[in-house]
Amino acid sequence: MVSDRRGDVLVAECDPTRIASLSLEHGAAVTILRLSTHSLIDLSQGVPDISPPRLLLDAIATYGSSESACSYTDISGETSMRSSFTHEMRAVYGNHVDLTPDDIVLTAGCNMASVAVIMILTDPGDQVILPVPWMTLEMLGVEAVPLAMIASAGFQPKVEDCEPLLTGKTKAIALVSPNNPTGAVYSPELLRAFAELAKSQDIALILDETYRDFITTGVPHHLFDPLQDWDWRSTVIHLFSFSKSYCVPGHRLGAIVTPQMVLNHIITVLDSLLICAPRPIQLALASTIPDLRPFVRNNAKAVHSRHEHFKTHLPSSWRIGSQGGCFAFVKHPFKGREAMQVCERMSAEGGIVTLPIELFATKATLQENDGRRWIRFSVANVDDETIIQACRRLSELEQWFGWELD
Ligand SMILES: Cc1ncc(COP(=O)(O)O)c(C=O)c1O
Repeated sequence: MVSDRRGDVLVAECDPTRIASLSLEHGAAVTILRLSTHSLIDLSQGVPDISPPRLLLDAIATYGSSESACSYTDISGETSMRSSFTHEMRAVYGNHVDLTPDDIVLTAGCNMASVAVIMILTDPGDQVILPVPWMTLEMLGVEAVPLAMIASAGFQPKVEDCEPLLTGKTKAIALVSPNNPTGAVYSPELLRAFAELAKSQDIALILDETYRDFITTGVPHHLFDPLQDWDWRSTVIHLFSFSKSYCVPGHRLGAIVTPQMVLNHIITVLDSLLICAPRPIQLALASTIPDLRPFVRNNAKAVHSRHEHFKTHLPSSWRIGSQGGCFAFVKHPFKGREAMQVCERMSAEGGIVTLPIELFATKATLQENDGRRWIRFSVANVDDETIIQACRRLSELEQWFGWELD
């Protein structure tokens, strides 16, 4: 037990009964750091906590030490990797997809892909519409126009709610499916409806599908399929990250699939930002992607099973609003408490680390009743047993916090 300069008592390592008596002795001045009985459970990172497949690690080692990978490559990336990615897109979206390696640009991760796309589509003062809560977009002087999403509708955006938000300054609608932070997966029909709305306004539909490989229910959408009476090149800009599906976030590789006219501008932006994405990971994936499909599928099945465990074991007072990809978006049961407060106590006193909605939205966009009570749980980066353990611990914390419940 230590005391800080203001006289608060910080309790770092002791059991709950001891803390309760300390609280009585010291009144409200006691700040509990963490219960010693609770090991840390990190449910904050949206990436599977497993090693990449051996085959890929070996290929990274080979290309990492090859002289040929030391030089610059084309700004748009290795031809072999763009070709492999085209095959990968067929595996995910169907054999009919209308794509060539020339439609693809490789970037140093998907975040860089998003920034490059926003840079070429917008000028300061322009607007991009995106569903609340969102991941990032407060830079470059572009106004993020919030598209409200209703918890009771499973955090699905609605085309009818989007239409009135369109103005002369709107340059794009940006959707993330499966979503971060809500986990909500948008149906092929919903994505098509948004694509048609974007096309009717002559603006882009930016579709970040970083978590697409975690969809276990079928094809994410048919927007690349020419048999569906639709030409993606009029509207769609697809973003992808290799970080999650292949468990290699440290190697930084992402992709943009975009119409040729836009692609040329993106290349100009990328040339001034970093010239080309890291080469060894491009070469390693180019030669292994076809053989890694089973790994990606098994990974998705494992994360799906973790979602099921989470659903089954979560205390009934915690309500899941949506679930998918790597995340579950959950409403906590404590009356009148903001998610930030709850997350702080969950991590300090219960050793469970999660992210509150306040990190993904501004105050003004959290108008909905109890809008500030949502917490993002990542179920991807722990194993099944740990998810069950975390749910049990939530039940204990409910009692421990002593806050009024719904
Ligand atoms: C929706 C979404 N897009 C992009 C990224 C970043 O991907 P990358 O590691 O490829 O930059 C993340 C990371 O968490 C994400 O959730």
